Amino acid sequence: MSDSTPLLPWKARATISLLSLLFDASSRSNGTVNRRLFNFFSLNASPNSTPVNGVSTKDITVNTENNVWFRLFTPTVAGEVAGEVTGDGGATKTTSLPVIIYFHGGGFSFLSPSSIYHDALCRRLCREVFAVVVSVNYRLTPEHRYPSQYDDGEAVLKFLEENKTVLPENADVSKCFLAGDSSGANLAHHLTVRVCKAGLREIRIIGLVSIQPFFGGEERTEAEIKLDGSPLVSMARTDWWWKVFLPEGSNRDHGAVNVSGPNAEDLSGLDFPETIVFIGGFDPLNDWQKRYYNWLKKCGKKAELIEYPNMVHVFYIFPDLPESTQLIMQVKDFISKVSNSRL
Ligand SMILES: *[C@@H]1O[C@H](CO)[C@@H](O)[C@H](O)[C@H]1NC(C)=O
Ligand SMILES: *[C@@H]1O[C@H](CO)[C@@H](O)[C@H](O)[C@H]1NC(C)=O
Ligand SMILES: *[C@@H]1O[C@H](CO)[C@@H](O)[C@H](O)[C@H]1NC(C)=O
Repeated sequence: MSDSTPLLPWKARATISLLSLLFDASSRSNGTVNRRLFNFFSLNASPNSTPVNGVSTKDITVNTENNVWFRLFTPTVAGEVAGEVTGDGGATKTTSLPVIIYFHGGGFSFLSPSSIYHDALCRRLCREVFAVVVSVNYRLTPEHRYPSQYDDGEAVLKFLEENKTVLPENADVSKCFLAGDSSGANLAHHLTVRVCKAGLREIRIIGLVSIQPFFGGEERTEAEIKLDGSPLVSMARTDWWWKVFLPEGSNRDHGAVNVSGPNAEDLSGLDFPETIVFIGGFDPLNDWQKRYYNWLKKCGKKAELIEYPNMVHVFYIFPDLPESTQLIMQVKDFISKVSNSRL
């Protein structure tokens, strides 16, 4: 383990070990998930309409039959706005807030916007970026395979087009960002491709924030082999997640997984938004993530790669890690830069 795990604070190490244990204990070899076990041990936070640390939250239903909903995070104190700031000499500020549509990670099989990790992460994004955050609950595998997750993401965008009034008045839907971590970043990518093709009326997706995206392929990369002892995203776990995600009979070179491989979608002709990709040196997925970034560049898209050489998969959920705060600040800078370039 010593060469596959860097030195991390004990709390982070303990959380990562417990999550890995819980994922393993809940994932059955016959390709089902023991939901009762997982839900019993998973920690969740309720929405809170009373502001806590300058953020209030509320859950909004999108459709009941697929249990699609989102947790809406609204900043409630005046802050430095990451987008447009107009005013007369700075005396009065009329602010419009960018909107981050966020997809949580968990191998497509686990977690939700109410998991304490993602609830806390979205609160930090809301407060620090000073943005409205829409954190989406989508259907999970293995009960629901590809493309249910992408369909649910699309349902949320359509819902917001028709029901903008559920957002705070100062939310500016012409400045929306899709964002996600791990499998959520895979979802955000494929949803971005869909939006580029089909278009939306009022909502404008102007940027993509891709945090340690979950991609893969049949081939084993150097990082996957070298870091295979890693918690959370060992090959045994990622293989299981892909197997229960993909349509029966497909392998990991499916276009949803090996996004830069032979079955990949050519993005050159699409108006794909500017993208920021975060990777970690101790994340076994980092070769796939670098390929993703290189392929965006190859297709002629604006993309930025930020590497944290000493970080593992999911380091961003630990607010005590300085790198986690740094990541939030880089997301803030990215959103501010892209928003301002659209003024
Ligand atoms: C998988 O295994 C569990 C527990 O052993 C069992 O309850 C379930 O019915 C099995 N499902 C399938 C589809 O084989
Ligand atoms: C907008 O909200 C209404 C009321 O909740 C709902 O019936 C409708 O389906 C929503 N629109 C979309 C596109 O989801
Ligand atoms: C997956 O995609 C990569 C490009 O990133 C490609 O080199 C590789 O051949 C693909 N995998 C397979 C087994 O086709």
